[in-house]
Amino acid sequence: MSKITAAITAVQGYVPDYVLTNKELETMVDTTDEWIVSRTGINERRILKGEGKGASDMAVPAVLGLCKKRGIDPMEIDLLICCTVTADHIFPATANIITDKVGAKNAFGFDINAACSGFIYGLVTGSKFVESGTHKKVVVVGVDKMSALVDYEDRQTCIIFGDGCGAVLLEPNTEGFGIKDSILRSDGSGFQHLHQKAGGSAYPPSIETVTNKEHHIHQEGQAVFKFAVTNMADVSAEIMEKNNLSADDVAWLVPHQANKRIIDATARRMGLSDDKVMLNIQKYGNTTSGTIPLCLWEWENQLKKGDNIILSAFGGGFTWGAIWIKWAYDSKK
Ligand code: UT7
Repeated sequence: MSKITAAITAVQGYVPDYVLTNKELETMVDTTDEWIVSRTGINERRILKGEGKGASDMAVPAVLGLCKKRGIDPMEIDLLICCTVTADHIFPATANIITDKVGAKNAFGFDINAACSGFIYGLVTGSKFVESGTHKKVVVVGVDKMSALVDYEDRQTCIIFGDGCGAVLLEPNTEGFGIKDSILRSDGSGFQHLHQKAGGSAYPPSIETVTNKEHHIHQEGQAVFKFAVTNMADVSAEIMEKNNLSADDVAWLVPHQANKRIIDATARRMGLSDDKVMLNIQKYGNTTSGTIPLCLWEWENQLKKGDNIILSAFGGGFTWGAIWIKWAYDSKK
């Protein structure tokens, strides 16, 4: 019997309607459009508005759209993995909320928290269920409502993050297409540079934690930047070397969208020209777990069966890694 690989067979995205522009941010903190564009590459980002709206409210339309596109009923989903750092609630898992809302009554689900590397961690995890032959339709959602964690008085973080969601369907493939290889890494000593201090069991919510703004993102930008540039570039080059892939062999780099300068450094290290790099940071900013599937969604129509694609991310944890995919289908134009 031929080996089973896990192939992406459909992609869908969802971004909220509200556009937060650099111009609007200029009225909120001491910053300028020119600084934001030159230091990050971001022009605008989307924000999910509305009381009681959480990550699942972006994931539900993405998953329903995904099923419609592939022509399947949500009841056919075996497993749904939700990658997020902005779960609707501390518990239960947002995956459970999504499966309930979309009517995926036969699926089990769980969340993965690997910050900006969440989607690649989730994709590798989901692929193992497919490769083992136990699960045939696995949905991997990358979603974050970063506006729930951002301090809109902190000019270093509020300019970067946005809200959004992407979802993919993984199915078995016996022709060698799909996820071919992956390298995942983590280093918990990175905690100090990027975290949300309070709200968990170490520092439960209190008047003090709220007053001290400890429920917001704490990011030491320069330190994170240095780790991100080195590790994302290194792991992307490593997965190419490990699999004897030259720059000519690679059709697309799908990088986590944290900062255009980090993406440029990664592409340079891989020897790739700009036209092979998916970049939508200018429109959506950093949507954490959402960035990579949102890119796949936007570029889906340009992807061809057999294309070698490298996914690459770096984020809080620290977590980082890269995935090599042989794309499994030609999209309908
Ligand atoms: O996605 C997961 C992981 N996260 C990342 O990968 C983010 C990595 N870090 C970054 O992308 C960048 O470090 C930032 C975009 C956060 C900051 O850019 P930077 O080029 O590293 O700026 P910096 O922190 O070195 O600050 C340079 C200057 C400082 O002023 P002084 O001390 O030189 O006078 C900052 O106070 O820019 C100032 N600054 C700003 N000025 C205008 C910081 N934020 C802003 C701002 N507008 N929004």
